[in-house]
Amino acid sequence: MAEPGPVTSTNLQQLKQRGEKISCVTAYDASFTSLLEDAGVEVILVGDSLGMVIQGHDSTLPVTMSQMVYHAACVARAGRHALRVVDMPFMSYATASQAQTNAARLMRHGGAHMVKLEGGREMFDTVRALTEHGIPVCAHLGLTPQSVHQLGGYRVQGRDADAAQRLLEDAQGLQQAGASLLVLECIPTELARQVSESLHIPTIGIGAGPHCDGQVLVLYDLLGITPGKRPRFSHNFLADAADIPAALRAFVEAVRAGSFPDEQHSFK
Ligand code: KIV
Repeated sequence: MAEPGPVTSTNLQQLKQRGEKISCVTAYDASFTSLLEDAGVEVILVGDSLGMVIQGHDSTLPVTMSQMVYHAACVARAGRHALRVVDMPFMSYATASQAQTNAARLMRHGGAHMVKLEGGREMFDTVRALTEHGIPVCAHLGLTPQSVHQLGGYRVQGRDADAAQRLLEDAQGLQQAGASLLVLECIPTELARQVSESLHIPTIGIGAGPHCDGQVLVLYDLLGITPGKRPRFSHNFLADAADIPAALRAFVEAVRAGSFPDEQHSFK
């Protein structure tokens, strides 16, 4: 059988238009990347969550550009079809010019197909500066972990009417600025539905309910090996699977079937 071609942002938009769900998992090394490719995920995210699950920090803030390039390159060596999105770490995109330099490094030396950055209206100019130079951008709204100290902890965002309206406007502005994809983290299900319906670019949710166009989980949460309390929005897919490849396939199938996430993984 012919090998499928590489996944592009156009493919992801087509999936959205057809109502087919997109699956995304984080990866930080070549071996897991290979298993994720076998499982058929459309998007692999080299997340700065590596600061927590690989390095043992209590936030993503200590992660550096060099570390992101290193892990992205490890993932790229095993990459085959999935679109590789790589996180820009904390303060690596404080100005548009710094964002261009660092995003180019992630693409040139880390094999990134797209870079991800956190923030709303304050990022419009930066998103424009990247996309106008051929650097595809995934935006990230809601609980933005690089702002954990400003947000006062890892908590659900967009719960009151003003915050919800602001998030909706930010999402539309990011799309207008050229973003190709939008991660929505820890926001109420109904707000995520509204945002997803109002955009033509796909939304990828984590703790944002079932109405997003796709779902992302941190690999270690999906396998139930993250130390400490399991985040409410995650699910241990290894618990009912024979082995790791089967757990990854179960996640992809559950996302495609719309059976993950359900109410117990979502917020009101
Ligand atoms: O770094 C990461 O893994 C992420 C996901 C939680 C979306 O940004």
